[in-house]
Amino acid sequence: MSEPIRYFYRNQIRQLENHAPTRTLLQHLREDLHCTGTKEGCAEGDCGACTVVVGELKNGKVEMKSVNACLQFMPAMDGKAIFTVEDLQSPATTAQMTPQLHPVQQAMVECHGSQCGFCTPGFVMSLWDLYLQRDAASPPLQRKQIDIALSGNLCRCTGYRPIIDAAHRMEELPRHEFDTAALAATLHSLQRETALDYAHQGQHFFAPRNLQELVQLRQAHPQACLLAGGTDVGLWVTKQFRDLGDLIYLGQVAELHALTVQDDMLEIGAAVSLDDAYRAICRYYPKELQELWQRFASLPIRHAGTLGGNVANGSPIGDSMPWLIALGSTVVLQGSAGRRELPLEDFYLAYQKKDLRADEIVASVRIPLPRATQIFRTYKLAKRFDQDISAVCAAFSAQLQNGVLQQVRIAFGGMAATPKRATLTEAAMEGQAWSETTLQAGIHALAQDYAPLSDMRASSTYRVQTAQNLLRRYWLETRPESPLPASAVNAFACTGTEESV
Ligand SMILES: Cc1cc2nc3c(=O)[nH]c(=O)nc-3n(C[C@H](O)[C@H](O)[C@H](O)COP(=O)(O)OP(=O)(O)OC[C@H]3O[C@@H](n4cnc5c(N)ncnc54)[C@H](O)[C@@H]3O)c2cc1C
Ligand code: FES
Ligand code: FES
Repeated sequence: MSEPIRYFYRNQIRQLENHAPTRTLLQHLREDLHCTGTKEGCAEGDCGACTVVVGELKNGKVEMKSVNACLQFMPAMDGKAIFTVEDLQSPATTAQMTPQLHPVQQAMVECHGSQCGFCTPGFVMSLWDLYLQRDAASPPLQRKQIDIALSGNLCRCTGYRPIIDAAHRMEELPRHEFDTAALAATLHSLQRETALDYAHQGQHFFAPRNLQELVQLRQAHPQACLLAGGTDVGLWVTKQFRDLGDLIYLGQVAELHALTVQDDMLEIGAAVSLDDAYRAICRYYPKELQELWQRFASLPIRHAGTLGGNVANGSPIGDSMPWLIALGSTVVLQGSAGRRELPLEDFYLAYQKKDLRADEIVASVRIPLPRATQIFRTYKLAKRFDQDISAVCAAFSAQLQNGVLQQVRIAFGGMAATPKRATLTEAAMEGQAWSETTLQAGIHALAQDYAPLSDMRASSTYRVQTAQNLLRRYWLETRPESPLPASAVNAFACTGTEESV
């Protein structure tokens, strides 16, 4: 029997029923609740006009994260708290008083951070998310932290400088503390013991709480669409108007949130957010993966999206697969017959075709930790630095022992119908001295490994040529004699455009 969705918004526990399971949070706020502060710009996670903050319990603690309301389906909000720009201003408590702006809003006013105002609620909520991560004892905000917080917000008229000024200014104003303890108590009261089954006109949204419930539901509903962060699936509804049928939501499955280190492997559960997953892996590969972490979509997309979703979707232009494959990662699949584990490259059979049985889900990804002699790099080429899908994404890994390359593993995105290893290039370099001669042999082989498509992101020629250039960059940064620091190479090779090949 269908149960209503329960969530907390504007100091009330609310219930929702009689809507399709794919009704978005943005539609609900604007059309059902008439809270129109949150805006719709693109309905695909790109502009940030719909940014809200969602609070949820993780290991008993409240986590507050900015997300794009246009991509979140309402049943995924069950048991969570939603905060919009309407929440920020303190109400007037007497007739004589005027409502008091939150320091984030006050700073935007003082620094002239708004003109037409369409983008402003989204910027305010991204800044509020940043504000919440800090306290009176935090060191001064760095420009980089502000850029990351605002990477998912576009403004057409004000320009960004006054908004960045506002980010600094909000810290100078008297602090407004947020009552996390009260929210934790409310969220505890909203938690369910067993799976949510929300239904409307025969379409079900299941939210299992543990792996056993998930496996049973998957077996019973092999056609159901699996939903994790919805940053791919959301667009199938908002842009393609697809009817998804039944949905099984993975976000409440406790076991899929695990992050563990064992036997020199980091295992990341499929429901761990992209931001948490990249934070965890960057502890081990800081200089190699930091830039990709920050250039993967925007912060609200990384808060909602998962590493499991990136791997399971397996887009040929997805950013995580090249480096995961180059490091020799495996994917753990869970079905009714138990678990199986396979090298990630073997998971991808053909375009959008994976080695995933009808009753299976991706449970986790296991990533080898670095070894002393490892040389590993990954590079993303896109037309824009922030919030853009790759034209080409490359990852190179090898053991460099006494100047000789061993265990060479190279993988690319954007070069084939699936994320794919460059096996001919690997063979040309394996066991060779890491020299200009080996580099040339690798560059030559790369052109045999791939025959990429031309599309709106890049031409085939551009892709092959930049892939070869990236191999050269890897050599420049890792060659035994006088390797260039990454920052030196960054200056001329960080992003690319068709014109700059
Ligand atoms: C604005 C924007 C920017 C983006 N930028 C980037 C980018 O820079 N780089 C990039 O690589 N991607 C990018 N993406 C794509 C997307 O964010 C990622 O692919 C993300 O990792 C998907 O994760 P998710 O949890 O949101 O997956 P969902 O959308 O929930 O699911 C994606 C697919 O995987 C399936 N699935 C999810 N979890 C599992 C599981 N555990 N087992 C089996 N199947 C599963 C779903 O059924 C669906 O087919 C962007 C998307 C948007 C909207
Ligand atoms: S409306 Fe543009 S990101 Fe949601
Ligand atoms: S103020 Fe007009 S889009 Fe930003």
